[in-house]
Amino acid sequence: MSKPKMLVVFGTRPEAIKLFPVIRALNDTGAVAVRTCVTAQHRGLLDQVLAIADLRPDRDLDLMEPGQTLDRMTARLLTGLGEVMDAERPDRVIVQGDTTTAMAGALAAYYRRVPVSHVEAGLRSGDVLHPWPEEINRRIVAPIADQHFAPTETAANALRRENIDPGTIHVTGNTVIDALLWTAGRIAADPSLAAGLDGIAGRFAGKRIVLVTTHRRENFGAGMEAIARAVARVADRSDVAVLFPVHPNPNPNVVSVMDAVLGDHPNIALIEPLDYPHFVRALGLCHLALSDSGGVQEEAPALGKPVLVMRETTERPEGIAAGTARLVGTNEDRIVSEVFTLLDDKDACSAMARAHNPFGDGHAAGRIAKLVAHGR
Ligand code: UD1
Ligand code: UDP
Repeated sequence: MSKPKMLVVFGTRPEAIKLFPVIRALNDTGAVAVRTCVTAQHRGLLDQVLAIADLRPDRDLDLMEPGQTLDRMTARLLTGLGEVMDAERPDRVIVQGDTTTAMAGALAAYYRRVPVSHVEAGLRSGDVLHPWPEEINRRIVAPIADQHFAPTETAANALRRENIDPGTIHVTGNTVIDALLWTAGRIAADPSLAAGLDGIAGRFAGKRIVLVTTHRRENFGAGMEAIARAVARVADRSDVAVLFPVHPNPNPNVVSVMDAVLGDHPNIALIEPLDYPHFVRALGLCHLALSDSGGVQEEAPALGKPVLVMRETTERPEGIAAGTARLVGTNEDRIVSEVFTLLDDKDACSAMARAHNPFGDGHAAGRIAKLVAHGR
């Protein structure tokens, strides 16, 4: 008898980081045939992860367009994924998170009555405009999926409140911790994997590094400009250096806003996006992270790094509850004052800098693979 065919669909950097451990674990079960389809909603950022994880997708839709719009991207993803599903005829589709790829993948599977497993299910901010459009993307997947892998009890409870069948909800931990610990182990064994940061580490020796990332659509415009001005003020301190891998979104130009405000500052390294081992090393080097990213909110606590979250609300309250993350929004003065507190107040900083893993124990992927393989 042939093995059931599982089609894993993903397209962006965070999906690839959070799914490569699942793909490996599924292969390790020996009980299912694993097929992978990338939409390449992200091209360069996705390829960085595929290379590090040594993943060669079976299908690649290569759909990214510069400055892609949500509606056009949704339409192209839905059509492209539908065609792949018609050709592959999977027994189950696996999607991750809250991207447009995840939403379109679930919808295309539903249109073919193919069951869907949702990795990182149940995260809710309760505000449909923050994160935008991810809050709705994630909610659309929920009633379609018949397996919900919630990273935490909080996420599982959100699904229960939405009347999702409790028997289909499994608390597994977040697979990002699997990816992080695996990658940290590889860097420890072979430091050359992240040696591209040697120059910056040398240049900023003796300074405290603030690691910055920002890309959220709801922060475009005034929010991004305020973030840029705040980062410039932080970098004006002689005891601080800013390491800022800039997201390549050209619309409305994260790169040009940051270049214009921060480009010539001697204490700022504005750099291309880092591949995952280099980013994990950067997290290890920093004093604190300043970010609007979802994944960074999960990784920083695991490494004992305080993270200031440049958002009004978060669907990842566990880091806040644990005291390692704090919401600071996008007001320039507020960001500056929160960063200065963590730089100047040792007690405030060490209260936040406690290593623990509210998001997982590094064994989420194995649990998920078992549940998928046994169809529960
Ligand atoms: C997407 C996800 C977001 C996730 C983020 C992770 C949606 C709606 N958004 O947002 O949930 O947090 O990815 O990074 O699904 N680009 C490149 N090269 C790349 C990647 C992007 O040039 O490798 C540029 C392209 O011009 C692209 C633009 O960035 O059109 C925006 O990419 P898109 O995936 O639409 O949005 P993100 O803001 O990256
Ligand atoms: N990341 C990376 N290189 C970078 C910036 C981030 O590898 O230069 C990783 C980071 O460790 C995390 C993931 O990308 O695992 C987060 O992606 P992003 O912030 O783009 O998306 P989000 O998590 O907000 O959806």
